[in-house]
Amino acid sequence: MQHDVRGLELTTVSAAATRHIDQAVSDFLNYLTTASAEVKSALAEDPDFVLALCFRGYFLMMLENRAVLPKVHETLDRMKPHLDAVTPRERLHARALEAWATGDLASACLAWEELLTEAPRDLLALKLHHTMTFYTGRSHVLRAVVSSVLGAWDASVPGYGYVQGMYAYALEENGDYAAAERWGREAFDANPEDLWAIHSVAHVMEMQGRSAEGTKWLDYSQDNWAHKNPFKAHVWWHAALFLLAQGDYERALNLYDNELVSVNSPAYVDVSNQASLLKRLEIAGVDVGDRWDVLAEHAETRIEDHMLPFRDVHFCLALTARGNLDGARRQIGSMRAFAADNRGWTANVTKSTLIPLCEAIIAYESGEYGKACDLLWPMRNELALIGGSHAQRDLFAQILGDTAVRGSKLSIARSLLAERVARRPSSKGTWLKYSSVLDELGESDLAKRAEQNAATAAEAG
Ligand SMILES: [Fe+2]
Repeated sequence: MQHDVRGLELTTVSAAATRHIDQAVSDFLNYLTTASAEVKSALAEDPDFVLALCFRGYFLMMLENRAVLPKVHETLDRMKPHLDAVTPRERLHARALEAWATGDLASACLAWEELLTEAPRDLLALKLHHTMTFYTGRSHVLRAVVSSVLGAWDASVPGYGYVQGMYAYALEENGDYAAAERWGREAFDANPEDLWAIHSVAHVMEMQGRSAEGTKWLDYSQDNWAHKNPFKAHVWWHAALFLLAQGDYERALNLYDNELVSVNSPAYVDVSNQASLLKRLEIAGVDVGDRWDVLAEHAETRIEDHMLPFRDVHFCLALTARGNLDGARRQIGSMRAFAADNRGWTANVTKSTLIPLCEAIIAYESGEYGKACDLLWPMRNELALIGGSHAQRDLFAQILGDTAVRGSKLSIARSLLAERVARRPSSKGTWLKYSSVLDELGESDLAKRAEQNAATAAEAG
């Protein structure tokens, strides 16, 4: 038996394997590309080390590609003969991995939650819970679970800054912006390399319409994050969103070309961040040229993936934006078969939310704006299930707004835009759209007032 750097028992006799796992957890939380090599080194020292095998399985799952599932199941099979001899904590890791591999995200999260009641300093379990709960869109669970472990942490425990960064994000997603920023900045002070803490503060600025400040907050060079894993592209995506809000489309496109696509490789294309930015630029009236091509070609190879509803909907966006409506319809057919043949969170959300959302996107990209609006409007407040953050899901609100305007559903457009200006009164573009819709509805006094608000709005986009 060994102990990790936070005092948790590890079922291995190898001190070297333990050091590698400690380093793997630290590198993983720090978004370094070296984390999986550390897991490999731990398994080279002790091939039967169950926690290291779980970590291997987790890394495979984080590739979010159906092609890895056989390897994950092989890893689960490898650890099975040893499960009776390991700690309950390590068994719960194995249970979480198994649930995750079968698309049962809620059960995976529950296994990590149960584990954290006994071992609140298990940073790996906390981070995985944070990440995968994020993909179920249950913000309240994010906050509940991070706050439930806080009592076991303080600055004397290695990795405390990461917990502060997670709490910051959980608070932000629950609308507690002042506390979120405080926790996020403290995490950043503890470790200025902590991308999640940087990201949490960026979220606060995004939600509060502080885009000029956000641009300064994320003023990093590409070299600065050269050693970070592809999550950095998501932080660049936030930087591009700040530019978009300020109407600086050229710099947003430059970020796309120089930073966002820099994480793509023959094996991995970061469709979510890239599709999300391109679609927002298009809604803002920007010609994005042939930038969809790479994404649509990649999405065509992932039509039958169904590893995460959030990822699937971005594949659909890429396919339809490029005009591959047949591909998107085939994807929906595959989603239907997947939802019918499987049980668990991913299958349930595919059926309840993902399929109707993708049908709306197909209608939108086919120019059937009225139909798209009819599909999206009733589900607009239930989209959290698809996963991701408020900022990410705002794209679907923007698409809905666009369908209402283009489909001449003016009362709906007015209502959506009223909601939007209330949430982000700093956005000149939103006030102008609101003014135009009010004008079309014959509400000229209100239209004039909205135009005046546009003239003084702090964000030019
Ligand atoms: Fe984000």
